[in-house]
Parts: sequence; structure tokens; C-alpha cells
Amino acid sequence: MQNYKDVLAEILIDSETLQARVKELGAQISQDYPEGDLLLICILRGGVPFMVDLSRSITAPHMMDFMAVSSYGVGARESTGSARVTLDLQTDIRGKNVLLVEDIIDSGHTIASVLNMLKTRNPKSLKVCALLDKPERREAEVPIHYLGFSIPNKFVFGYGLDLDEYHRNLTFVGVVDLDKYKPSA
Ligand code: IMP
Ligand code: MG
Repeated sequence: MQNYKDVLAEILIDSETLQARVKELGAQISQDYPEGDLLLICILRGGVPFMVDLSRSITAPHMMDFMAVSSYGVGARESTGSARVTLDLQTDIRGKNVLLVEDIIDSGHTIASVLNMLKTRNPKSLKVCALLDKPERREAEVPIHYLGFSIPNKFVFGYGLDLDEYHRNLTFVGVVDLDKYKPSA
């Protein structure tokens, strides 16, 4: 994998801007769930850095769990149709206030499938918190109750988002320079 500096077209959202927005979202969520029973569910793997930072800025007591889904019949960078659970929750969500934490809503298929599946387990409430939204790419209508940033239709990486599994650790969100990026075969 190339060094990120060799494939970065531009920094779209810098670290300070991300951290400030995550704090705002955390404050809002803290206010909105005064009754407790809050469970943050991180969609692996892209949601990890966001959920860790978000959780630390939520003052309301809450739990965390993790799930992984994979899309059917897709290339690595696109998803179509429905998603399959590859790692399920350890928590019984019945009667809990569930907040799904996702890195980005693109076509919307991933989150739509997860919402449909989790609804059948009878949570008290079920909401979505996404760091990024690419509205131009939407194919499935999904509610986004908490949103960090709406972004243009560009492939981005960093702060959880990967470039072929690399560079999730970056503290900013950058745009990939597709002329310079050489996917390894
Ligand atoms: P959706 O089902 O099309 O909404 O896909 C959402 C998933 O696709 C996200 O959870 C990401 O894993 C991935 N994804 C979508 N856009 C990007 C991007 O620009 N960079 C990295 N991953 C992305
Ligand atoms: Mg993801």
C-alpha cells in the first residue's frame, strides 16, 4: 500500500473540525437520552474511531457493542442490495435505546438492511448516527438522526474509512487522488 501522502488529493475535513463536530454530536446525544438504556452499536470496521471519540463525549451512561456486515455481490468500494451479518451483537437489544454508529452512508443499503434486521429484535428506540453522508449516491432511503458532515460524491479515506483496508488510522478525512492511487492486484 502506498503512503497516504502519495494518494491524497486534498484534506476534506481536518482533525480539529472532526473533533469539534464529534463533541457537538456527543453533547446533543447526551441531552436526547436522559432516561438511560443507551446502547451504541458500532458497525465494524469503519465506525471504530468515530464511535470511540463519540462515546468519550457522551456524558449519559451508555453501553457499546459491535457488529459487522458484508454486502452481497459487490466490489470492495461499492455496495448494492442487502447486507449479511458476519459478526452479530453480544447484547440483547430488546427494550434498549439503540444508536447505530456508522462511518458513512453512501447508497444507504448497508444501514437499511441493518435497521430492518434490528427492528425485529424490538429495541425501545432505534436511531442512526453517521459521521459522513454522500446524499448524491443514495439508492435506499434511510433516516439519519445525527450527522457529522454531508460530503460530495468523492471517494474518501481516513478516520475509520479505508482505502483497501489501509489508512483507517488517519485523524482527518481525505479525498483519494484516483490518478495516483495504484490498487494492488
Ligand atoms: P452503503 O451501503 O452504500 O451506504 O455503504 C456504506 C459503506 O461503504 C460504508 O460503511 C463504507 O464502508 C463504504 N464506503 C462508502 N463510501 C466510502 C468512501 O468514500 N470511502 C471508504 N468507504 C466508503
Ligand atoms: Mg463501513
